[in-house]
Amino acid sequence: MSALSLPSRPNTPPASEPPESELIYEGKESLIYRRVRGGRKEILKLLKPACVTPERLVRFRQEHELVGTLSGEPRIVGAYGVEKLETCPAIVFEDCGAQSLKQILDVRTFGLVETLTVAVAVAEGLGAIHAARVIHKDINLANIVMNRETGLVKIIDFGIANRMPRENLGLVSPRVLQGTLAYILPEQTGRMNRVVDYRSDFYSFGVTLYQMLTGALPFTTNDALELIHWHIAKQPTPPCHAMPEIPEVVSAGRVNSRGRLAVRQTPVVETNRTIASHPW
Ligand SMILES: Nc1ncnc2c1ncn2[C@@H]1O[C@H](COP(=O)(O)OP(=O)(O)OP(=O)(O)O)[C@@H](O)[C@H]1O
Ligand SMILES: [Mg+2]
Repeated sequence: MSALSLPSRPNTPPASEPPESELIYEGKESLIYRRVRGGRKEILKLLKPACVTPERLVRFRQEHELVGTLSGEPRIVGAYGVEKLETCPAIVFEDCGAQSLKQILDVRTFGLVETLTVAVAVAEGLGAIHAARVIHKDINLANIVMNRETGLVKIIDFGIANRMPRENLGLVSPRVLQGTLAYILPEQTGRMNRVVDYRSDFYSFGVTLYQMLTGALPFTTNDALELIHWHIAKQPTPPCHAMPEIPEVVSAGRVNSRGRLAVRQTPVVETNRTIASHPW
């Protein structure tokens, strides 16, 4: 397979880049390309050259393996394989013509029914992930993609996922915490003296839905320790306070009786019922 040279800015590939390859995302550690190969649409995930360390390569391969164990799951983006490029390996994923919910929310809001429809799809995806004894650990708007024409929703990015059914973390510095801090389960910060299990994904899922419903995160601060403290101790404003049209049952699904953010373990049936009873 031919090598990719790495452009410095998204959507402005240098002349040496294969013509069918377009850089669509440049993150802290990853570069994401879109291309068509042999008539097949593909997404390529690469490590940035500066991030190619033995530890990171191990995690990169784990990401590919974990996605492989979920192969065929309709709510999980599928992987075709690993390709050796000049500078590093790339994971080749299916391209379902989707964008992340974050990218979509940047340009428009989500309606209630659309949010609940996405919620059902993500709950199905999490069901499949957990049935395979995998914890995703980084559910957020950037790691869920949706095809805006077909409405197809899939979960991506198993970069920090693992197989451990339960994980006991010691006190961890906010600088080295895995996952996206605004979505992180208090237990995942090591500050609750409790083990982390698959339910951490439901917590992050709750934050994600909160953001889809209200357009805002439940807690916003630039101070990492303060954010962790608020997730442990503070009650978020119920979504129905921000948007009165949000039914109580949906709002309550995001903020539980102890005032903690949460999505119940089996939200699909309940969410489907809410969609069916919705007047629109
Ligand atoms: N299959 C896909 N379909 C559509 N967009 C995708 C796909 N895979 C990745 N992307 C886009 O690329 C972004 C980053 O991908 P991914 O979440 O896998 O990388 P990451 O590990 O979070 O990277 P970093 O940590 O460097 O930010 C996603 O938020 C999404 O916008
Ligand atoms: Mg990601």
